[in-house]
Amino acid sequence: MTNNDTLHQRAAALLAAMTLQEKAGQLSQYFHLAAWPEQTEFVEAEVRAGRAGSLLFVADPRATNRLQRLAVEESRLGIPLLFGFDVIHGLRTIFPVPLGLAASWDPELAERVQATAAREARAVGIHWAFAPMLDIARDPRWGRIVEGAGEDPYLGARMAAAQVRGFQGEVFGAPDRIVAGPKHFVGYGAALGGRDYDEVHLSESELRNVYLPPFAAAVQAGAGNVMTSYVGIDGVPGAADRRLITDVLRGEFGFDGFVVSDAGSVIDLATHGFARDDRDAAARALRAGLDMEMSLGARFSGDPRPTPGVGAFGTLAAAVAAGEVEERLVDEAVRRVLLVKLRLGLFEQPYVDEAQAGAILSDAGHRELARSAAERAAVLLRNEGGVLPLDRSAVQSVAVIGPLADDPRATLGPWVFAHDLGATVTVLAGVRRVAGAAVRVAHAPGVPVPTRRFPSPFAMLEQLQPGQAPPAAPFDEGAEFARAVELARSSDVAVLVLGEAADMNGEAASRSTLDLPGRQLELLAAVAATGTPVVLVLLSGRPLDLRRAAEHSAAILAAWHPGTEGGWAVARLLFGDVAPGGKLPFTWPRSIGQVPLIYAHLNSHQPHTASMRYWEEESTPLYPFGFGLTYGAVAYANLTLSATAIGLDDAVQVSVELRNTSSRAVEEVAQLYLHQRHGRAARPVRELKGFARVTLEPGETRTLAFEVPAAARRYWSVAAGTYVLDESTFDVWVGGSSTASLHAEFAVRLDTTARPAE
Ligand code: NOJ
Repeated sequence: MTNNDTLHQRAAALLAAMTLQEKAGQLSQYFHLAAWPEQTEFVEAEVRAGRAGSLLFVADPRATNRLQRLAVEESRLGIPLLFGFDVIHGLRTIFPVPLGLAASWDPELAERVQATAAREARAVGIHWAFAPMLDIARDPRWGRIVEGAGEDPYLGARMAAAQVRGFQGEVFGAPDRIVAGPKHFVGYGAALGGRDYDEVHLSESELRNVYLPPFAAAVQAGAGNVMTSYVGIDGVPGAADRRLITDVLRGEFGFDGFVVSDAGSVIDLATHGFARDDRDAAARALRAGLDMEMSLGARFSGDPRPTPGVGAFGTLAAAVAAGEVEERLVDEAVRRVLLVKLRLGLFEQPYVDEAQAGAILSDAGHRELARSAAERAAVLLRNEGGVLPLDRSAVQSVAVIGPLADDPRATLGPWVFAHDLGATVTVLAGVRRVAGAAVRVAHAPGVPVPTRRFPSPFAMLEQLQPGQAPPAAPFDEGAEFARAVELARSSDVAVLVLGEAADMNGEAASRSTLDLPGRQLELLAAVAATGTPVVLVLLSGRPLDLRRAAEHSAAILAAWHPGTEGGWAVARLLFGDVAPGGKLPFTWPRSIGQVPLIYAHLNSHQPHTASMRYWEEESTPLYPFGFGLTYGAVAYANLTLSATAIGLDDAVQVSVELRNTSSRAVEEVAQLYLHQRHGRAARPVRELKGFARVTLEPGETRTLAFEVPAAARRYWSVAAGTYVLDESTFDVWVGGSSTASLHAEFAVRLDTTARPAE
């Protein structure tokens, strides 16, 4: 008997002993928040009664152990709890936000980052991350663009697989890894108007060719969980979409883990006007293939604190009795949940070593990785006159200006709940550390940290970090503004750290403009007017409208929300201790009016007017997808294909030469784009199909090889109603961005076996 058979037998034995109420309990996950005592009291009673399968939001090892004891030692069957958490970009050590990690174009780095996050999480008793977020985001008004890998399905899929491997490791259930929960299945990023939670309408072509590939990759990488989405495609909410959960995810992709709803979204089925009531919602979600309900409490009444109580799955026993759902389906879901607990070894070792947790959370190696990740994530967008890197022998004074320059919370970004604010290195602290004793570094915020008109729903969770955020000091705006300008005037260079506060992106953080919030642009203009060269360091989770800002800045470095060691990383980049090499994982628009704007668009009527589709402004991006500068220069040459004509199922090998033409070491991401000229559907003008990040020493030449497999040409044709491979001619470009010009072509013919290139 295999180990797997044994686990199945143990699950079956437990199932046979469970009441229907206990089964429904295993399928229920509850928030456990210190800031919400009415709820924790209710939840703990449910745990003792064997009616809760999983908790979320507990990150203290003493608390996970205490709660686990309630389940293991006090409930009738002693089934351990599964602890889930939003381990999005770190737990205690915070890495760059996922969009930044994607900008590194370094899947191997993403894997190491999530492995490290998993190690910290597991040490405190967390078993499961609600990550990676795999939603393709093509509208930067949507705040959650920060949580994903941007606009592209290929980059998204590579980052997805890498992160799943990072969280879970080689062997599912390894003691220092956790279960990955890719989310939000699927299409959440297409919310109308970029408004979070708004409706979504997606064609089958977009769904299959753009939104699903990262999920397919995550499943292939072995993800143990998937979370459904708050939204539904074309009126069918994600938590009850049988076609997507059962037919596509389990059937087509072969997913064999468990599916959880997003918080409160089973009850939402009724809110949406889809289900009749909670019982109908529970029955339909289960019938669709959902296994676990993440419950927000009984019903969200608009009160920031929902009433404690069971979720929709609390009605499952009644639904079974009424014949609305077969108990067999309940059993199937419970089996999946029990199997995860068994495979994680929770029955053997339900507790964590509280003494050891502290050492793991403060492992210096984790912080080292956080610094290097932040360095690799940053994208240099502009560098006029070679103002960067700053030359320590020429620059005697640096003014570090702006409301985010010394704001640790903005340095970390959204989706962190167990961080150490005091240990966070801001840009100011980083510059002080790196500049050297001979350089005078001074700071002025200039304007206050901008605030939201409508407060973030996460404000309550911020209070979970007691005593961390100092109360805002009184701020004399007029005087501070003038002081910042004066400081710039008397300095050799001004580093302006501007952008978005942490709560301006993430969930419930959509925007209707891409402006620099508050008076930041005014500050930038006033500083630039002093004549001191300006380096703009942008902290943000989305592209911002930089048209005016770029006029005022010699250099622009997009640092995202770079994490615990972010300021140190930024400073090392500014002083050239390391070369920037990140590239944009999305198309950077000029203005909000262009949104959505993507590089992989279709040619339609009059492609030659494509850049003039608005009469008052170019419809091209400010910075294209894949763009990013380094401190040297790279030349591409000798693009060679293994064949000029291949058969339908053949691959083509591509090679290209990269040469560092400068006297500095450079970082470069070589990108391969493909275009199908004709077929059963018009295909995007170009699509990313391969990339490699390399470091080249001065004068070094390197040949890179890519394989373009037949699968890279496969797409869903609405006309054919299926995935197809077409006979056609294909263009290949390789270069440093989506505007690469080095070109080659090959043909795909039904009757052609690979013919070597002459
Ligand atoms: C709602 C979010 O949509 C989801 O991404 C997150 O994992 C859960 N809340 C839990 O915090």
